[in-house]
Amino acid sequence: MGEIVNITINGKEMQAPKGSLLIDKLLDENIHIPHFCYHQALGKDGNCRMCMVEIEGQKRPQISCDTPIKDGMIVRTTGKNIEKVRRDILELELINHPIDCPTCDQAGECKLQDYYMESGFYESRMNLEAKNHARKREDLGSNVMLDQERCVLCTRCVRFCKDITKTNELGVISRADHSVIGTFPGKPLSNPYAMNVVDLCPVGALTSKDFRFKQRVWFLETFNAICNGCAKGCNIYVDHRKEKYKDDIVYRFRPRVNKEVNGWFMCDEGRLSYHKENENRFLTAIVNGSQSNISNAIAQLFAILNKGEKTLFVLDANLSLEEMTNLRSLANILNAKISGYSPNSFDESFGDDYLRKSDRKANRKAFDKLEINQSKEYFEDAINSCKNIVILGNECFEENTKQFEDKTIIGIFSHNCLSIKHCNIAIPMASFYEKSGTYINCDGIEQKVISKMKKDNPLPNITNIIEEIKGMIEKGNLL
Ligand code: SF4
Ligand code: SF4
Ligand code: FES
Repeated sequence: MGEIVNITINGKEMQAPKGSLLIDKLLDENIHIPHFCYHQALGKDGNCRMCMVEIEGQKRPQISCDTPIKDGMIVRTTGKNIEKVRRDILELELINHPIDCPTCDQAGECKLQDYYMESGFYESRMNLEAKNHARKREDLGSNVMLDQERCVLCTRCVRFCKDITKTNELGVISRADHSVIGTFPGKPLSNPYAMNVVDLCPVGALTSKDFRFKQRVWFLETFNAICNGCAKGCNIYVDHRKEKYKDDIVYRFRPRVNKEVNGWFMCDEGRLSYHKENENRFLTAIVNGSQSNISNAIAQLFAILNKGEKTLFVLDANLSLEEMTNLRSLANILNAKISGYSPNSFDESFGDDYLRKSDRKANRKAFDKLEINQSKEYFEDAINSCKNIVILGNECFEENTKQFEDKTIIGIFSHNCLSIKHCNIAIPMASFYEKSGTYINCDGIEQKVISKMKKDNPLPNITNIIEEIKGMIEKGNLL
């Protein structure tokens, strides 16, 4: 960090690194500063002029996104004069903007709408008939829809494709007030991170085909989670809604800023993986081919463990650190073996040199921390000496579970999978976003999330199941 200097913003003395951007200080201090084109991930472009501030000693207002901090600088973001300047710039933005708010998906999280409301342009000076019109429904590819009329030409989307993905699919076409965003002939928006432009777009010009017209955003509730799609462990928001008489439904995953892990972004596959959470959940326990309640299934699992035969626990690398720790402690009590072997969890075609990792599991580093053996040799040796196999988590084996049919197979799964039909007992469990826990990502960064999702009928996590079994053990029934 460079030299720290003293500045004054709105009469309050503060310190900031010399030469750093004034807008970053304003944003870091949560001082309201309207802006469209600046984004901390993309840097400055200086095209929207919305971030104007007054700086003592300067004749004219300055854009804070291109103003380096100097010692002794005195800055004002509020006041009649500077607010009028920003209001006039906003009026320019609105000249050709359509009156779409009631039907626009961005309503409720739109910067233009927010700034309009605080500026109080309730009586428009614009002639609606004279507005320029442009294409309302341009399918850019990769689940992104463009409404050219709503665009404020901030170029965040263009810079994302140029500087972050380096795929250059988007550009500004034509000139002056006929300028629009578009793709180049024969080159749709098709990179694996394309949907981030929807989050970057400060207005409703870029919307997600997947989310369009499904929900008004002010009805959604949000909580934090860690994506389980690969070893990067991107930080995400889970937006969900429980309507009266209906199940709680997840409507979207969105990236949550963590500069150490995923920055501001996530991949499209991780973003769209929420569909699996609504469509493919395993919800009803099965005991010997018949449906059962969860308590009975756990009691049956206990009865099997209570026989004193050798048991092997096979753990999925998407379980939380706490679940793995508790499982290891149960295995010690039972003198059982424990393996982290997971043959289906690497996909070389998925990984890249940005966020996506070929290891499709979020918590494999926790295996290392807890010294859980992941080798095939250990697993094969253990399975030969065990009568029972308890598979914890999906995709450990998938259809290969059939190979263990001479064993008693117990599966604890969050989603439907091919293994279930081979299990003597199958118990449903909470999915990753429904439980609190710690995940250690591929770079060794430990991240703890506390789930806030409320369910009418919460499914147990592995820790809940283990506690029930430990309770039965304490009652003196075991071995
Ligand atoms: S489409 Fe959105 S992100 Fe792209 S330039 Fe227009 S307003 Fe900015
Ligand atoms: S890069 Fe990995 S962790 Fe991040 S969103 Fe994609 S699948 Fe999820
Ligand atoms: S945010 Fe400063 S000019 Fe656009």
